[in-house]
Amino acid sequence: MTPQQPHRRGQDLLFDPLTTKGTAFSHDERRELGLLGLLPVAVKSITEQAAHTYAEFSSRRDDLDKHIYLRALQDRNETLFYRLLSDHIEEMLPIVYTPTVGDACRQFSEIYRRPRGLFVSYPDRDRLREVLRNRREEQVDVIVVTDGQRILGLGDQGIGGMGIPIGKLSLYTLIGGIDPARTLPIILDVGTDNVELLHDPQYLGWRHRRISDEQYYAFVDDFVAVVHEELPEVLLQWEDFATVHALPLLNRYRDRMLTFNDDIQGTAAVALGALHGAVRAAGRPLSQQQVVMLGAGSAGIGVLEMVRQQMVAEGLSDAEAGERIWAIDINGVLTDDRDDLSESQRRFAQPTSRVSGWDARGLADVVHHVDVGILLGLSTVAGAFTESIVRELAAKTDRPIIFPLSNPTSRAEAHPAELDEWTGGRALIATGSPFPPIPHGQGSRRVAQCNNVYIFPAMGLAVTAARASRVTDAMMRAAATTLGDASPALSDPGQPLLPAFADLPEITTRIATAVAIQAVRDGVAPQASDEEVAEAVRQARWTPEYRSR
Ligand code: NAI
Repeated sequence: MTPQQPHRRGQDLLFDPLTTKGTAFSHDERRELGLLGLLPVAVKSITEQAAHTYAEFSSRRDDLDKHIYLRALQDRNETLFYRLLSDHIEEMLPIVYTPTVGDACRQFSEIYRRPRGLFVSYPDRDRLREVLRNRREEQVDVIVVTDGQRILGLGDQGIGGMGIPIGKLSLYTLIGGIDPARTLPIILDVGTDNVELLHDPQYLGWRHRRISDEQYYAFVDDFVAVVHEELPEVLLQWEDFATVHALPLLNRYRDRMLTFNDDIQGTAAVALGALHGAVRAAGRPLSQQQVVMLGAGSAGIGVLEMVRQQMVAEGLSDAEAGERIWAIDINGVLTDDRDDLSESQRRFAQPTSRVSGWDARGLADVVHHVDVGILLGLSTVAGAFTESIVRELAAKTDRPIIFPLSNPTSRAEAHPAELDEWTGGRALIATGSPFPPIPHGQGSRRVAQCNNVYIFPAMGLAVTAARASRVTDAMMRAAATTLGDASPALSDPGQPLLPAFADLPEITTRIATAVAIQAVRDGVAPQASDEEVAEAVRQARWTPEYRSR
């Protein structure tokens, strides 16, 4: 851990990625800060440096190569890295994060160059405090932690999963304005069950099978306790944990500290945000819609839980909201006569009487018997939204809302272009994975992608600015509502449901402000007026500019 050193000089200053300006140090600075002779004589501006690095970036042969280039730049000069990213958000988001970060995780050990963040390894379990104290900076606003067990759609990647916290925190800074010096990526190295990795001589992680659940929960408990003691105000964000651990971990800590799980809550908030825009464009509020979800796994149930809460916030009772929500899994509609449902799934079980007399209990039957306005998919079943199902749904409503949300693209429940065709261009669509624009007349329409990047950087900015101590469900809903309000489809029906990535920093400030105000209302942040909160959010934003020394 390095204490803040405002008067660093010479090599220390030049080679620290957080303080360096490289060739942008002025002649005066070079003389005053012990840098004479360490740099070629020319002085560049950050704009010139960014143009130069962009040319280098563009010359890299493929996306992984570009990712490696950007990571190296980040390790060399963080200010320039973020300036470059800010200049090219749309182009670089998929390189720094999904989908390219998936390849970087798979090849983590081969492309490993310099350490970043913390490797909290099970063999060091007796010295966790020391591990944490070895962090780069004393003050930390946001930690992203994973155990690498369920990385994107790629399964167990062991310590390769570290690519995710690193990439995700880059977006906290790029989009949410979190000071990069106050971010900390962490991998919990608790072994891997990926046999290929266990036999790979290059693999840099702990060469051991994943530990038992009993050992695992005790280890995570110890880790969380040390984090909480060392950094009591930090936001601890869980990322890409296996389904069996994700919800139990969230439930274990959510009422004790500032924490959230982006796969569960962030996904739900962005889907609800897109829905919020969609129901307004459709002219029928969520609480008057019948909602069908194909897939009742952790993602699907997380989204439905938020849909239910939103319906209640709009005035329905819990039971009335439940009557409007249909969840379907591989065994059909969730009904109260089934004995294979988890506790969280049982909350969405319909009385068996509502499906009695139906031929079967699949998606086609629900769409046939129920006045469905919203069809969501988090089932991983490609093509599950068939032409006949979609046409029947489209016959029942003017603006059918259809979100095939499963990732990756090959698993999507339908292709947006098909949905557009089968509904005569009336469907309001959002997907989980990126899809090419849908051709329309002379032009084309961008398809909204429910990317969590619309939510998590705003959460980080909000809790940092408001000094919140918890992430409440109402804060997540406030994020979703504000995102929905920013839907381009509200002013022009031909526009997509979610804003363009290039507009993210501005929209994120709006979302963060709404979330921070909600935190104050929920009593989990110090009292402040709405104006004070909005100002705190603006002030909290870090920008990629060289500071005078
Ligand atoms: P999971 O494996 O926990 O759940 C899958 C669900 O689909 C289960 O309830 C299963 O019974 C059901 N299912 C499987 N086959 C079916 C069939 N033939 N008919 C009906 N239901 C069927 O998976 P999880 O974690 O919930 O993820 C689901 C999908 O959501 C994945 O593709 C994942 O990549 C995606 N996802 C998307 C996100 C986004 O932002 N769009 C975020 C998180 C997950």
